[in-house]
Amino acid sequence: VKYFKNTDLIRLLNVSDKTVRNWVQGAQTGKIELDLWEEKGRTYIADTLANAPILERLAEKGRKYRNSRTYKVLTPTRLFYDLYSTKEIIEIASSLDDYGKYPFYYRYTGEGAKQWSDYLDRLGRGGSSNILNETIDLLGSCYGHLDNIIRGYSHVNVVDVGIGNCVAAKDLLTHLNKGKKLRKYIAVDISRELLDAGRERIHQWFGDQIEYEPHQCNIGFDKLADISHNDTYDKDATSTLNIFLFLGGTVLNFKDAAQPLRILRESMSGGDLLISSLKLDTPRSRRFFDFDAGQSKAQLSVQNSFILDVLNISPNLYDVEQFYSENQKARIIQVRLRTSLELKFAADRFLKTVELKKGSTIEILRVCHYSDYEFLEHQRNTGLDNILSMKSLNDEYMISIAKLAKG
Ligand SMILES: C[S@@+](CC[C@H](N)C(=O)[O-])C[C@H]1O[C@@H](n2cnc3c(N)ncnc32)[C@H](O)[C@@H]1O
Repeated sequence: VKYFKNTDLIRLLNVSDKTVRNWVQGAQTGKIELDLWEEKGRTYIADTLANAPILERLAEKGRKYRNSRTYKVLTPTRLFYDLYSTKEIIEIASSLDDYGKYPFYYRYTGEGAKQWSDYLDRLGRGGSSNILNETIDLLGSCYGHLDNIIRGYSHVNVVDVGIGNCVAAKDLLTHLNKGKKLRKYIAVDISRELLDAGRERIHQWFGDQIEYEPHQCNIGFDKLADISHNDTYDKDATSTLNIFLFLGGTVLNFKDAAQPLRILRESMSGGDLLISSLKLDTPRSRRFFDFDAGQSKAQLSVQNSFILDVLNISPNLYDVEQFYSENQKARIIQVRLRTSLELKFAADRFLKTVELKKGSTIEILRVCHYSDYEFLEHQRNTGLDNILSMKSLNDEYMISIAKLAKG
């Protein structure tokens, strides 16, 4: 390659498109001493040894100028670097840079995991209709049908995808354990902290009766097939039934429900079942933002402010916006910056400066809205066949049991 594409320079030197165009113009008019390259009628900056130090100097000068004038320069906190691996930091920085979004699944790390587990505990104690209580009730109503299916198998594994505090699965585990066919509770979650807490809870509830097998992975990307297919207890794989749980509306945090559903479908085999529960799209759910469930009302709940706090973005730097978007069919929580920021990430050899302009937004939570029909349609399109679905008495929550579609 004899020249830099503008996009290369933007990425390499962390400058804007406008800056690169100004450099080209400056070189064309002789104000800057850069060698240029013509290709198909367009002018680029040449990739030469002489240009390299000049480009570095120009970029550095531009950064200093911007910083001193308009940008507040921030570095993430020590805690941020303790919580996330370099790979995760690269993903977070890139997502902020490319889309202005904090990957939602990293909210369940560190203090975020504890907050989420406490939140679910409060829901469980709450007694009123909420996603956790309704999930447990609806699941309980399916036992008759599940028992009929299980009768044809020697063993059952429960693969809980997105375990939270394990409370949603507890009654089902108790029920299956009584039938003496339950072999393993396979806990799949992105959060190491929740997986560790899950081990303690399962032990506390069931002692050594249920084998706990944790797997840390991202259900948006990582296949689970190795997890669910690697033991069958008998030579005949058909004698083991895997019941996948995808409860508590975890599916709603994915921009496209098909993404995790496809991964789940590919992880299933034979007569395996997938049980999902979610909050449905209703006029009431479109107004639902209370993740604090009884805590004093901050501008952002602790779970949501936590991720900004660890990045060192303090509340005086943003305004909170939470709304239902008709266009995107999603409830969104985002913050709008009151001032321009430069977030400087440095982990091992990864160095990146993310520029966030005044007035731009950082999305910290998105919850998609589906009617029961729309969710089942997503399942069908992914190759999953609904065999039982039910709505809560107040029509606000649903559960579905699906198996692999034939053919
Ligand atoms: C909404 S909670 C549901 C918890 C539980 N199933 C319930 O019904 O109470 C979401 C859970 O999924 C996990 N999770 C979220 N996104 C994930 C992802 N991409 N991959 C794996 N786990 C994820 C979270 O750590 C959390 O435990």
